[in-house]
Amino acid sequence: MAVLVVTDPESQHEAAFPPVAPSSILSRLRLETRGEHDAVEQVLDLMGGSLTHQSYRQRLEQFYGFYAPLEKALQSHGKSPPDIADRPHGAYKPPLSEAISSALAARLNKTAHLQQDLHHFGVLTDGLLLCRDLPPLGTQAEVLGCLYVMEGATLGGRMITQHVRATLGITPMTGGCFFEGYGDDTGRMWQGMRQLLVSGSTDTQAENSIVTNAITTFARLRGWCETFPKTARQRDHAPCLKT
Ligand code: HEM
Repeated sequence: MAVLVVTDPESQHEAAFPPVAPSSILSRLRLETRGEHDAVEQVLDLMGGSLTHQSYRQRLEQFYGFYAPLEKALQSHGKSPPDIADRPHGAYKPPLSEAISSALAARLNKTAHLQQDLHHFGVLTDGLLLCRDLPPLGTQAEVLGCLYVMEGATLGGRMITQHVRATLGITPMTGGCFFEGYGDDTGRMWQGMRQLLVSGSTDTQAENSIVTNAITTFARLRGWCETFPKTARQRDHAPCLKT
């Protein structure tokens, strides 16, 4: 499914939240990541008729393996090296602007949602594999490029929520919390994300870095999903990191 042909979900929120004026960064992100978006969508295959409870649960495990270390790395921004020395991707990262820090605080909840869903299916997240080939997060622009992808997933999530409810009977309370995302607040949260991207694109270098890291984030997620081991035997030999 191509990203550009679908109606903008923000339109229903326009009265309360005037859309951000068209900008170079927003159109560049949409256009330059479109190929990667469609490739990830294809690899995940969440909207097809062959989705089962088992394959859905495996997708949740894949997302957990990507989002959990990523959210942890994002939380480590601005902390002093000794606090985070033992963490993967724990090198010191400079503090973020106040706007980005508060946006992160409101958005780094996906790991908790995935945990809730996986517990519903009887999966203990402690033993799950974690991706270590994460996108770089050393600068504010890189954080924004990565966040664009993580947050954009909530738009597709709205469609996935409807699909899994209709085909598998899964609701936000019964394993569908992650894809439900912000629910009716999705348009408002996305509008805030877009404003953040515009204000963070202070010059051409920052803009290029945001776009590059958005593409990298999509590509790393796709790589992780493509190589995610399907059986316990494969898992024992996976080039990944255990919690
Ligand atoms: C089956 C899976 C998916 C479906 C059906 C889907 C569908 C959609 C739809 C309908 C939109 C709105 C397009 C628009 O309003 O113009 C969208 C946007 C977006 N999606 Fe997905 N998506 C899926 C998976 C993902 C994933 C896994 C990610 C990232 C991890 C992602 C990232 C994005 C981003 C960043 C946008 C915003 C594009 C823009 O700049 O306007 N999507 N997706």
